[in-house]
Amino acid sequence: MEKKPIVLSGIRPTGNLHLGNYFGAVKNFVKMQETNECYFFIADYHMLTTHPNPKDLQSNVRQVVIEYLAAGLDPEKATLYLQSDIPETAELYLFLNMNAYLGELERVTTFKEKARKQPENINAGLLTYPTLMASDIIIQRAHLVPVGKDQEQHLEMTRTFARRFNRMYKVDYFPIPKAYNFDQELVKIPGLDGSGKMGKSEGEGNAVFLGEDPTSIRKKVMRAVTDNGPTEMNQEKPEPIQNLFSLMEVVSSPDTVAHFDEDYNNCSIRYGDLKKQLAEDIINFTAPFYEKINELKKNDAYIKKVIDMGAEKARVNAQKTVREVREIIGFRKIY
Ligand code: TYM
Repeated sequence: MEKKPIVLSGIRPTGNLHLGNYFGAVKNFVKMQETNECYFFIADYHMLTTHPNPKDLQSNVRQVVIEYLAAGLDPEKATLYLQSDIPETAELYLFLNMNAYLGELERVTTFKEKARKQPENINAGLLTYPTLMASDIIIQRAHLVPVGKDQEQHLEMTRTFARRFNRMYKVDYFPIPKAYNFDQELVKIPGLDGSGKMGKSEGEGNAVFLGEDPTSIRKKVMRAVTDNGPTEMNQEKPEPIQNLFSLMEVVSSPDTVAHFDEDYNNCSIRYGDLKKQLAEDIINFTAPFYEKINELKKNDAYIKKVIDMGAEKARVNAQKTVREVREIIGFRKIY
């Protein structure tokens, strides 16, 4: 019988998970854990590119573990772990860096964006972000990587690095993994500020969090950017309006979307009504997460158990990979 594809993905502990993280990634994690061997982790090594202080790093990591669980990840079905509990990742990262070239790393969009946003901190970790991400993925010899649209280029690089390793050592060792969304386009959830994607670092008010309280959600949605309204029938929607409709498409019923769409097309739409409805639908959607997050926050012992269990499982595989890679490269076997 053919082996089921191995699934792996991760999230940086930037604080709280938002609707973009959920619909772009975590929703698929929850589905895939039912049928596949899954590895989901918290990318705390990656977080160091922004120089967090130790206390913030710890509390953010804990928060993401809690939110993973609240969103439906089951430690009995999937392996949930911290990237830093698998130090073998750093060794594989070193090996991959020997075959990753400055030119290709400098061309990565996220690197260019970060370098523009934080010119005072363009560190080597930022440049080699894609090789660390490739190590995360191939160390578990994963096949499918459920991620949002913004990670597509990183996945392309992972494929390049995995292929390069195989070619260089004339082996068929690493599977070539692919970004995955059940054969659909990868998802990009827009934010509330009129342009671009929902993201934690895109500015105050742009992202709605799974653990956000209803009053705050209402306030944010009511402040979302709109315009003066359509002036012609069936006019194309400008980006800020399309973004609100895209959010509605994921949290509201198809009837609700159709209703506002019709109002837009015949120029009778009132954005205040649309936003009120959107806010209520987001609140309904996030309510169960909000409750579970608050429950789990009180259960430190459980959180620790989940992470210890995950680290142990994930590490066995990772150690095996690094041992084999060392042999392929030609090092003496030392563990
Ligand atoms: P991160 O932490 O920025 O985001 C985590 C996941 O959420 C998705 N996502 C979105 N999807 C749709 N719309 C949005 N607005 C949106 N915002 C975020 C991301 O695509 C991602 O799937 N580099 C990764 C973390 C990582 C990783 C890995 C992922 C490190 N190693 C190995 C997969 C495999 C990141 O920074 O994701």
